[in-house]
Amino acid sequence: MPEDLKLRSLLLDAAERGVVYRESATERPVAPTPEAVIGAAKFIEPMPIEGTDDESVLAMLDEVGSPATIMMAGPRFFGFVIGGSLPVTVATNWLTTAWDQNVGMHEVTPATSMLERVAMDWMIDLFGLPKDAAASFVTGATVANFTCLAAARNRIYSDIGWNVEADGLIGAPPVTVIVSEETHPTVFKSLGLLGFGRNRVVRAPVDGEGRIDASRFPAISGPTIICTQAGNVNTGAFDPVGEICEIAQPEGAWVHVDGAFGLWAATSPDRAHLCSGFAAADSWATDAHKWLNVPYDSGIAFVRDTAALKSAMAITAEYLMTETEYRNPSDFTPELSRRARGVDVWAALKSLGRKGLAEMIDGCCSNARRFADGFRAAGFDVLNEVVINQVLVSFGDDAMNRKIINEIQEEGTCWCGVTVWQGKTAMRISVSNWSTTAEDVDRSLEAIIAIAKKNRS
Ligand SMILES: Cc1ncc(COP(=O)(O)O)c(C=O)c1O
Repeated sequence: MPEDLKLRSLLLDAAERGVVYRESATERPVAPTPEAVIGAAKFIEPMPIEGTDDESVLAMLDEVGSPATIMMAGPRFFGFVIGGSLPVTVATNWLTTAWDQNVGMHEVTPATSMLERVAMDWMIDLFGLPKDAAASFVTGATVANFTCLAAARNRIYSDIGWNVEADGLIGAPPVTVIVSEETHPTVFKSLGLLGFGRNRVVRAPVDGEGRIDASRFPAISGPTIICTQAGNVNTGAFDPVGEICEIAQPEGAWVHVDGAFGLWAATSPDRAHLCSGFAAADSWATDAHKWLNVPYDSGIAFVRDTAALKSAMAITAEYLMTETEYRNPSDFTPELSRRARGVDVWAALKSLGRKGLAEMIDGCCSNARRFADGFRAAGFDVLNEVVINQVLVSFGDDAMNRKIINEIQEEGTCWCGVTVWQGKTAMRISVSNWSTTAEDVDRSLEAIIAIAKKNRS
């Protein structure tokens, strides 16, 4: 076959297989069968000496790999905080992959860096952040937290006359980092990577929903970075960020918001109050691969002090076109080379519009409430105030919860995970997928409640 025809048939074959997979999302059991999981061992072989033709490589990936996947893209995957991917974002992701742009420098990749610029401006507007804030398109909220805190480190040290980028932390004056008792583990990881240490922190007390209690906030003295949260990974609760900014900013402290999924509540007129006062903070981390429903990997860091972010991230080299009148994407990211992940963000926002985005967020929240109502009606305990898309339900003691959750995962109607909330084991449901309907919730409730009742009888 001529090379151009081979390319065409290979890429069309991939598209066809992808379509068949996604069309199965509603009806296929969410968890893979044990046979399919065992079957994935067919991938294990010594590194081949001879190559394999492209069609066979793709066919093997699909025939062995697809059945062994969990249907995270489907409407009844409620584990962790996992969005699906809107069909348009899968399509634009495929095209962007075909473009194969390395989006580090505007002069070289004008289309993709322009699209990221537009997506950045739209999100700054949607979240109500300062108009001249900078954004950084990174792999996820973990790296977004890292990026924001790197900018914080730069600004806080430059305020006390220490050039942390040049001179590092050895011998540097100490900085206090205040987190909460409910800060997400990825913030601690970022603090470790930045040389602050995972454990050298002061912990602010929280209330029964995991929100920082502003009335008991630790006293601030000296150079300080404060890590707050929009959307607790268990309860979905929001810290009173506005109040904390009022306490912290007269002291010169930097306030960071980890809004991995919760920041998206700001885009719904019915839920924006949860994020009121957030614009006063200094940096905000979020994910697009969670609640915006774009493919992995996609997170965004926003920083008010553009100069601090650039000082922490930008590099120059003789061979790089870093001088440009436009925004140079790599001036803001930990990576130099990377895929143009912001294109998927642009596509999701363009296709949804403000109205569609608010409907998607509200739809997930009302389906979360439907879950909570269904559990309460069946006599089970819902452990959290369902403020957004997270629901914690308990079926009994630790052993009973774990047994029931295992059976739910094996049964395959839906997939929910285990968590421990303030000492109690619970099942955690996160409704983050664009395609989840009320029928999906009812179907899942029926399966979950049948398993729970059978175990408790
Ligand atoms: C509050 C919070 N922060 C950070 C993260 C980490 O996000 P990612 O896995 O996309 O890096 C999560 C993930 O669930 C989260 O809920």
